[in-house]
Amino acid sequence: MELRVDLERDSDIDSWKEVTLIYNSALKQISTKLEILNDEFQHVHRYNPIEHIKSRIKTPESIVKKLKKHGYESNITNMVEHVNDIAGIRVICSFTSDIYRIAEMISNQSDIKVISVKDYIVHSKPSGYKSYHMLVTVPVYLSDRIVDTKVEIQIRTVAMDFWASLEHKIHYKFEGNAPEYIKNELVECARMISALEAKMMSLNEEVAAKCRKNDEGM
Ligand code: GTP
Ligand code: MG
Repeated sequence: MELRVDLERDSDIDSWKEVTLIYNSALKQISTKLEILNDEFQHVHRYNPIEHIKSRIKTPESIVKKLKKHGYESNITNMVEHVNDIAGIRVICSFTSDIYRIAEMISNQSDIKVISVKDYIVHSKPSGYKSYHMLVTVPVYLSDRIVDTKVEIQIRTVAMDFWASLEHKIHYKFEGNAPEYIKNELVECARMISALEAKMMSLNEEVAAKCRKNDEGM
């Protein structure tokens, strides 16, 4: 996309509309891919790896804020090049094993290009944050051209999402400067959540194994 546009000028609103149309289309493509994988999984394994999916387009205000933070002028070229999470999709699963299953299935699709992966499950952030992030591109077919469009996919469990929502609220409330004891409590909560998840996962596996034995008439 070779557009030089000032995002703070009304005359450039048309280009902004074109760009949002492209990012929205990319989100639709990824959402559909995920829904298809979930349906197929249900059909084959009688199990849904995905609990739910949320998607959003970054607001112009927060795009401008991010560009400023990194010292870039607010124009469409910079936004497309330097802001990787304009189109964002969050996939919520039950178990950590589902996260890796979904990530692998998405990466294996031939029209998807994986640009980068951040595994905050294996290497959680000092805050305690856990999630699996993938930056991918998906081709969007327009009438006269194909645009490879970036989408940030965040995959996490229900429990990780619960933690991230509360931490986000606290972070926002204290404008990033939460008292030390609250930060420590959050790290402790993250640890408790991981332990709980491990326990629930082994329970789930145990039950699944028992069901298989019953099905086989043992
Ligand atoms: P930005 O944080 O978006 O500027 O990008 P980054 O390049 O630092 O990427 P990173 O993968 O670290 O984070 C991207 C997104 O993950 C954020 O916008 C949040 O949605 C989420 N995230 C990352 N760290 C945390 C955290 O400590 N707490 C919460 N609640 N969310 C986080
Ligand atoms: Mg972000």
